[in-house]
Amino acid sequence: KPRVLSGIQPTADSFHFGNYLGALRQWVALQDDFEPFFFIADLHALTLEHDPKKLATRTRVAAAQLIAAGIDPERSAIFVQSHLPEHAELAWVLNSMTGFGEARRMTQFKDKSAKGGEGAASVALFAYPILQAADILLYRPQYVPVGEDQRQHLELTRDLAQRFNHRYKKTFRLPEAYILKETAKITDLQDPTKKMSKSASSPTGIIDLLDDPKVSAKKIRSAVTDSETVVRFDEENKPGVSNLLNIYSALTGRSIDDLVKAYEGKGYGDFKGDLAEVVVDFVTPFRDRTTELLADTAELDAILRRGAEKAREVASRTLADVYEHVGFLRG
Ligand code: TYM
Repeated sequence: KPRVLSGIQPTADSFHFGNYLGALRQWVALQDDFEPFFFIADLHALTLEHDPKKLATRTRVAAAQLIAAGIDPERSAIFVQSHLPEHAELAWVLNSMTGFGEARRMTQFKDKSAKGGEGAASVALFAYPILQAADILLYRPQYVPVGEDQRQHLELTRDLAQRFNHRYKKTFRLPEAYILKETAKITDLQDPTKKMSKSASSPTGIIDLLDDPKVSAKKIRSAVTDSETVVRFDEENKPGVSNLLNIYSALTGRSIDDLVKAYEGKGYGDFKGDLAEVVVDFVTPFRDRTTELLADTAELDAILRRGAEKAREVASRTLADVYEHVGFLRG
C-alpha cells in the first residue's frame, strides 16, 4: 500500500475546527487505503516561545484527540516527532541543500516573524519548513493531507526531494499535498477573511474541539455574517456565511446546494441555530472520548511507543540510504 503521512503541532490545549476539518478528517478517511503515519510535531513546537511545563501534557492530549477523531492506533502509526532522532538528522542534511533566499520566501515564516521582526525570530522558525520536509520525506508517502496554509511547505518539500535525487541518488518519492477544496481554509468566525488560527484568532473567532459545547454553540450563533438575509454560497461577498456553509456541509455530509435550498426563505438565525446544534452533537462525544482516553495515560504512552517503533522501521532505513548517498563513512 502507498503511504500517507501528516503531522500536527501540540501548541494549544485543544485542536480547533480548522485542524479537524482541514486536516484530521482526511487523515481518518485515508487510513483505509494507505499505510498511515501520523505524528505530533513537538520539535516544531519549539520554533515559537513555548511553555515547557505544558508541552508533555499537550502532546498526550493531542494523541488522545487524534484517536477520538477516529485515527485507529491498530492501523495507523501514531507517534511523537521527538521520539525519532531521524527527523532532526535528516533535517540537517536538507538544511545543507536549501538556499537562504528559498527559506526566506516561505510566507509562514514571514507571517510568524512579522511581529518581532526577523532579527527576533529563532533560527528554528526559519528552518521550520525544512524540518517539515524531513518529516515527510523519511516516510516516502504518496499523500500528505493538510490545509491550504501548508501548500507552500509541500512545494518546498518536493523541490528538496527532487534536488536530492538529482544531486546524489534517487532516494525520495515526490509527495503530493492532499488538500480538499471545501475545507482547505476554515476561517475565523469573527473575521471570515482570515483563517481560523490558534495564534491569531480571538477566542470568539475560534472553535476548540475540547471547549464546553455550550460555548461553541454560542460562538456559532454570534458568528459574523453580512447585512443580507439570504443563505447563499459566495466566498467573495459572503465569506462568513460561506464558511458556515462549509462547516455545516462537512459535519453533516449534506451538499452546499442542498443546504442552501433547505434555508430558502429562512433567516440567518435559523441557519446558525441549526448549525450550533450540529456542532454540539459533534463536539460532545468527541470531548467525552478524549477525556476517557486521557484517564489511561499508560495506555496512551504505550500506543505512542508502538507508533514510534513502526515509524522507526521506515525512517531509519531512509536515513541510512541518505547517509550512504551523501558519502558519510558508515561504521
Ligand atoms: P498545524 O499544527 O498548524 O495544523 C495542523 C493541520 O491543520 C491545518 N489547519 C487548517 N486547515 C484548514 N483551515 C484552517 N483554518 C486550518 N488551520 C490549521 C493545517 O494546514 C495542518 O494540516 N507545519 C504543520 C505541522 C507539520 C506537518 C509536518 C504537517 C509538521 N511536520 C509534516 C504535514 C507534514 C503545522 O504547523 O500544522
